[in-house]
Amino acid sequence: MAFFRTINFAEPLPIIEGDGVVLRTPQMTDFEEWAALREASREFLTPWEPTWPVDDLTRAAFRRRIKRYAEDLRTDTGYAFVIARCADGALVGGLTLANIRRGVAQAGSLGYWTGLSFVRLGYMTAAVRALVPFAFNSLRLHRLEAACIPSNTGSIKLLEKTGFVREGYAREYLCINGVWQDHLLYGRLNGGSDYGKA
Ligand SMILES: CC(C)(COP(=O)(O)OP(=O)(O)OC[C@H]1O[C@@H](n2cnc3c(N)ncnc32)[C@H](O)[C@@H]1OP(=O)(O)O)[C@@H](O)C(=O)NCCC(=O)NCCS
Repeated sequence: MAFFRTINFAEPLPIIEGDGVVLRTPQMTDFEEWAALREASREFLTPWEPTWPVDDLTRAAFRRRIKRYAEDLRTDTGYAFVIARCADGALVGGLTLANIRRGVAQAGSLGYWTGLSFVRLGYMTAAVRALVPFAFNSLRLHRLEAACIPSNTGSIKLLEKTGFVREGYAREYLCINGVWQDHLLYGRLNGGSDYGKA
């Protein structure tokens, strides 16, 4: 049983509203738009992500993904969202709060991607800014973490713009694009010295 969770999961997960975007739980009805955006963004995304399984963009794999997300949600271990643009409902990317540790940690890790045709338009900044109060106030987490490869300028700018503080450097931290790669470690705290940050 998770500690401190206040959401009632008999109810559907609330849609999180941000500045020009909404975050909502992925559904099977997102499959075609999601797969088309991922395919169109393949070359842009793959250098920064774990290796895509060969069947990753198939309907069957997406169904497994949705089931995994539902299980993570049920067990309070992760919360996955698609990001939709308010103006027209277009799916612009994804944001996941994963690997939630309760007990004495009360922490979770962010993962994110924006489709190539939507980058540098402020959507991920808006999405992360919307997720932070959900994580701290609704889920009562104490700490958010994120990690990125030192050459990932976009990710570094995003994290620093949204109040994350660089805390360290971990050698061969994650296997990205098939290679164990060093990562910069970022964190943001609920309250304390990070209170009121962007
Ligand atoms: C990192 C990523 C999610 C940023 O998404 P985004 O929707 O473009 O983010 P925003 O538009 O909110 O931009 C945030 C800031 O980063 C800057 N930025 C984004 N991409 C950049 C790039 N390639 N080079 C330099 N700055 C960049 C933006 O200009 C903005 O700063 P500003 O407001 O001062 O101009 C996106 O580039 C992406 O999906 N990258 C590939 C996958 C990835 O890296 N995932 C994360 C792994 S750790």
